Amino acid sequence: MNTISGFSKMSKAQKIEWLATQVEGEAKDMVSTLSDFWHPSAELQKRFDEFSENTLTNYDLPFGIAPNFMINGKLHAVPMVIEESSVVAAASLGAKFWLDRGGFKATVLSTLKVGQVHFQWQGPKEKLTAFFAEKKSELLSSVSFIIENMEKRGGGIVSLELVDRSQDIENYYQLKISCETCNAMGANFINSILEEMARVLKLMVKADDRFTGTEKEVHVIMCILSNYTPDCVVEASVECPIEDLGTFAGGLTARQFAEKFAIAVRIAEVDPNRAVTHNKGIMNGVDSVVIATGNDFRAIEACAHAYAARDGQYRSLSRVSLENDVFKFTLKIPLAVGTVGGLTMLHPIAKTSLAVLNNPSAAELMEIMACVGLAQNFGAVKSLITTGIQKGHMKLHLLNILNQLNATPEQIEKGKEYFSDKVVSFTAVRNFVQSMNNVQ
Ligand code: MEV
Repeated sequence: MNTISGFSKMSKAQKIEWLATQVEGEAKDMVSTLSDFWHPSAELQKRFDEFSENTLTNYDLPFGIAPNFMINGKLHAVPMVIEESSVVAAASLGAKFWLDRGGFKATVLSTLKVGQVHFQWQGPKEKLTAFFAEKKSELLSSVSFIIENMEKRGGGIVSLELVDRSQDIENYYQLKISCETCNAMGANFINSILEEMARVLKLMVKADDRFTGTEKEVHVIMCILSNYTPDCVVEASVECPIEDLGTFAGGLTARQFAEKFAIAVRIAEVDPNRAVTHNKGIMNGVDSVVIATGNDFRAIEACAHAYAARDGQYRSLSRVSLENDVFKFTLKIPLAVGTVGGLTMLHPIAKTSLAVLNNPSAAELMEIMACVGLAQNFGAVKSLITTGIQKGHMKLHLLNILNQLNATPEQIEKGKEYFSDKVVSFTAVRNFVQSMNNVQ
């Protein structure tokens, strides 16, 4: 592999050509076929190219729908983008199961987002605190030109505080803002406010006669929103009388199921090893909708896991109660998402996803995502405590392996039949396809 300069200036075709010269053997042909994945519409392809940098081609993922989601009395067919088999199936089964039992309830508990100017300042703490108290409204007014439009929509800065962290790092303070960003995720909005406030703070301190020597300098380290949003939280739940849960594979009665389910969730509450996998199941559902709607799944992931560890131990994001013979399953999760701005309106399929969901507000989208996460979690734990996870998983996994081995449609049908009562492994499926090829 050689270094190159000016790569970003090359056309997509040139980039592919260059990369092909840098790899060996089979990889050469593979790289050369990357252009096969370009979109037939040059206009759309240009848009995709511009989402990121050094783009060579597109990377396809399945877009599916989980129908029958009754959420707060409204029926949704939820768009999901995910590569993992069984996830959309589990969400759909969960949606159908709860459709017959009253559907999902979801409530947004709070919608605040946070941003911080991290800075260092050397001097007596009391002096800075008194200065901040006096100048706080001036600092807020200094960014009014940025928040004007957001305020018209009902948002803006909800609080501004000076945080003293000098006990953790010498001379370290923060300006911390909490914002209401309405239907926007708000990253650009918050970052713009922070950078302007930092600039103004520096000037104000420098110009103030009460400060002398080192006190005149505010050393701004960085200005950035926090993706930790414990005050942007939604709660989703399902409930029904235990008796109405029905009967389950393995001959489990409704009560046995409910009790086993509650222990399984309790295990994820007390054991981090299990909690991570349990929450991964929740995120299978949440992320699929986050991606389908053009939201930032890295931000959602980072925040969800920090929130799961908010009391010092990583725990399950969902809980079960069996009080008064009622099975109640609840998920509480921070979801800082938007339905305007960013990719939501630029990516044609994200736009379609939002249209399919009837163009929800950010709060409604939070509710939908949480319900899909809960359905997913219900489906995963239900499988785990009844049939085991492999049964459902392997059906789709089998199809993936057959496709990977270039099985013909006839071989796929025969394979499904053959493996209906056998353990699926890559070797077993390869042997099966080879034996069929030998017969032909
Ligand atoms: C697999 O992607 C997700 C599960 O492992 C979740 C869980 O164990 O609860 C099935």
